Amino acid sequence: MLAKAFFVGFIALLAAVEFGQVTVRLPFPPGVEYDYMAEPPAEGLPLKWDKGFKVENDVLTKAKFVLADEIVGVETVAVAPDGKLGLVDRFGKIFIATPDGRGGYSIPKEPLAYSSPGRTLGVKFDADGDLYMANSPLGLLQLVAPGDAENQKLVLATGRISDESPLLPGYPVEFANALDIASDGTVYLSSSTDVLAYKTEDSSWDVLDSVFVTIAKGAPAGMLLAYHPSNGSTIALMDKLWFGNGVALSPAEDYVLVADSIQMRIHRYWLQGPKAGSSEVFMDNLPGPPDGISLAGDGVNFWVTIYSEPSALMSLTHIRLVRVLTAWAPRLMRLLGVQMPRRGVVLKVSPQGQVLQVLGDATGKVMYGVTSAVEADGKLFLGTIRRKGVPVLDLKAIQ
Ligand SMILES: *[C@@H]1O[C@H](CO)[C@@H](O)[C@H](O)[C@H]1NC(C)=O
Repeated sequence: MLAKAFFVGFIALLAAVEFGQVTVRLPFPPGVEYDYMAEPPAEGLPLKWDKGFKVENDVLTKAKFVLADEIVGVETVAVAPDGKLGLVDRFGKIFIATPDGRGGYSIPKEPLAYSSPGRTLGVKFDADGDLYMANSPLGLLQLVAPGDAENQKLVLATGRISDESPLLPGYPVEFANALDIASDGTVYLSSSTDVLAYKTEDSSWDVLDSVFVTIAKGAPAGMLLAYHPSNGSTIALMDKLWFGNGVALSPAEDYVLVADSIQMRIHRYWLQGPKAGSSEVFMDNLPGPPDGISLAGDGVNFWVTIYSEPSALMSLTHIRLVRVLTAWAPRLMRLLGVQMPRRGVVLKVSPQGQVLQVLGDATGKVMYGVTSAVEADGKLFLGTIRRKGVPVLDLKAIQ
C-alpha cells in the first residue's frame, strides 16, 4: 500500500517537473537557478549518432604512461620542437617535462607557475616557445618565457570578446577549451559553454558537470574565436555551439575545424577562399562526443578523439525531465558508485571528413576518456582529465 502511494507520488512529481509546476534546482553551480523550462533550439540536441560503429582493434592498449607518479589529469600535451612537453595538471600546476632519452620524462618538484584559479584544458607552444593555455573561467592565458627565471611571466591574453567583433561584442570568454596557432601568430580557440569549471573537494578543478548542466539548460553558448596577439583583438567567428571543443587549422590555414561535443559533430569554418567567413558541417553522426582535434604528423589528415560512448538518454533530451535528470546524472552515479561504460577511441580523419583509421580500446582496459591526441616524432601523446601520468602511443609499434 505504502509502496503504491510512493509510486503514485513519484509519477506525480515527474509530471509536475515536466509541466513546469515545480522548480527544480540543478546540482551546480550552487545557488544558480537555470530555466530548464526554456525550449532548446530544434536543431540542437544530439539525436543521431553512428550506432553501427564498432571498435575492432585494441591498439590503444599499447599506450605507455609516462610521469605516472608525478602528474594527474593532463587534458592536452604541448610538444616543443626540442621534444620538451608543456603540461598543466588538474590543480593548475604548469610543468615543462624534459625527455630522458630513454622514452621517459622528468619534471621538477615545484611547478613553474599556477594557471589558476580554474581548469586549464588545451595548451600549445607558439613560435617563440611561450605556452598558451585555455582556461575556465579565466580565458586564454600565456606563460611567457617558461622556465626563464628572469623573464618568465604569466599573462591573461584574452578574457573578453572585443567591442569591434561583429558577433557577441563584449561577451566574456569563460570556458576557453582548445586552441591552435596560425603561422602569423593568430590563436584560434573554442569557448565551450557559460557553465564554468568548478573546484572539487580535493581542490582540483573539473569540467564534466558543466557538460551535463549545459544540456539541461538547453541554451548553447559555445563559440569559436580568433585572438590577434599583435593588437589584442578577440573576434567571435561562430556562436551557439553546444559545447565547443577541439580546434585545428588545416595545413594551408584556409579553414579551421571546431568540435561540438554535445552535438557530436565537427564544424569547418572557412578563413580563405570563396566560402571565407562561413561554416559548414565537416563531420556529423560521430560515434560519441568528439573532444580533441589536431593535425596528424603526415601534415594532411587529422586526429580526432572520441571521449565516450553516447548515452541513450541523449536522444530523449527534448523532454525537460530527462534534461534535469541528465544534469544530476554525474552526481547520482558518483553516489551510487556507477561508472560510465569505458571505451577508448581515436580516429584518423581525412580533409574530406572520412574516417581513415580507428585506434581503439573497446572495453577501456587501458585507454578511455581520451581528451586529445597530439602527434610528434612518431608518437601520439594522449590527454585525459583525471588520470595519472601521460599516455604515449608509439605509432611505429602499431603498424
Ligand atoms: C588586429 O589585427 C588583425 C590581424 O592583423 C587585423 O585583422 C584586425 O583588423 C586588427 N584589429 C584592430 C582593431 O586593429
